[in-house]
Amino acid sequence: MNNPDPLFLRALNKNKLSTPPIWYMRQAGRYMPEYRKVRKKFKNFLDMCKNPDVCCELAMQPINAFELDAAILFSDILTIPDAFGLGVKFIEKEGPVFTNPIESTSDINNLIPFDPENLNYVYKAVSNIRNALPEDIPLIGFSGSPWTLAAYSIEGKSSKDFRKTLDFVKANQDETHFLLSRITDACFLYLRKQVQSGANVIQIFDSWANILNTKELEEYSINYTKSLISALKNDQVTSEIPIILFSRDPKCNTDTLINTSADCISLYWGMDNFDINLAKDKVAIQGNLNPRILLESKDVIKKETHKLLDNFKGFPGYIFNLGHGITPDIDPNNIKYLTDIVREF
Ligand code: CP3
Repeated sequence: MNNPDPLFLRALNKNKLSTPPIWYMRQAGRYMPEYRKVRKKFKNFLDMCKNPDVCCELAMQPINAFELDAAILFSDILTIPDAFGLGVKFIEKEGPVFTNPIESTSDINNLIPFDPENLNYVYKAVSNIRNALPEDIPLIGFSGSPWTLAAYSIEGKSSKDFRKTLDFVKANQDETHFLLSRITDACFLYLRKQVQSGANVIQIFDSWANILNTKELEEYSINYTKSLISALKNDQVTSEIPIILFSRDPKCNTDTLINTSADCISLYWGMDNFDINLAKDKVAIQGNLNPRILLESKDVIKKETHKLLDNFKGFPGYIFNLGHGITPDIDPNNIKYLTDIVREF
């Protein structure tokens, strides 16, 4: 990318800006009719992710529709467990289901080595999207956090409380640590390849941080996210790439998140325990409108958005986003409306 100064990168560098850059978690997805049209052609969601041309088309859809300030790779966080041979399938209305989840300590000890080349379809999608994008629109590559990927791998599916995972972790602490370090190494190699293929920014999704108590969070999640970030910061290929950490409603204080060395913290909605004064000049902040607001009237959307923008006014390095992904029931016209009112504010 030759343009020295895209708005999104300036915000990630903690610059004070009069208009925040805007992008949305799950900006490509089922809420868009153009997405549903492409999605119909594939039975399995992961088969669609394995087609780099289609991934490129899908990543470009929200850029073309809303002129957003950043694109995100179209893929999924569960590509890594799939590459570890756990057999990831997406079942309609149920979400991901693993055919070979981790059920015992021997499953951990017998895991096949992670070969980053098994995910060549992802790196090809990255380079296709980078080539399709205007030069001044950065591309976000991503992975799940080691903890979130371990939780899916043990649970074998989505779950409200991940009870099976938490019981397994308690009963098999050493093996869980071994699994987490294997996944951390895989995430590093995977993200490095994404950067080599054209990703300009990295986001790490710790979507199941919320199921851990403060002590467990430090031990099983933050520790590994920290080593992943440290590995990326110490590698020649990735050292200059800004890293965004999305941690879903974590039971920890602001400093714990800042001390991960992420460049930007992506806030889950309603994270009132996060102290933006402590974060000032240390990290950029992204977020955090409650996506449910987008099901309300335009008046409510405007009121809530202005409240949020007032709250972050003058914060050096503020990026407008939602507190979690756009859901399929959201009207794309409201995404357009939201984007317009943020730019007009
Ligand atoms: O614009 C984008 O953000 C698209 C790229 C993207 C997807 N998933 C596509 C997707 C990204 C960045 C993700 C990340 C992801 N995947 C996360 C982290 C973010 C978060 O929501 O907390 C997680 C936890 C997953 C795992 C996952 N993928 C689940 C649990 C499901 C099923 C439930 C659901 O939300 O639909 C998916 C499927 C998925 N990933 C879809 C899309 C567009 C919908 C699949 C479909 O069309 O059938």
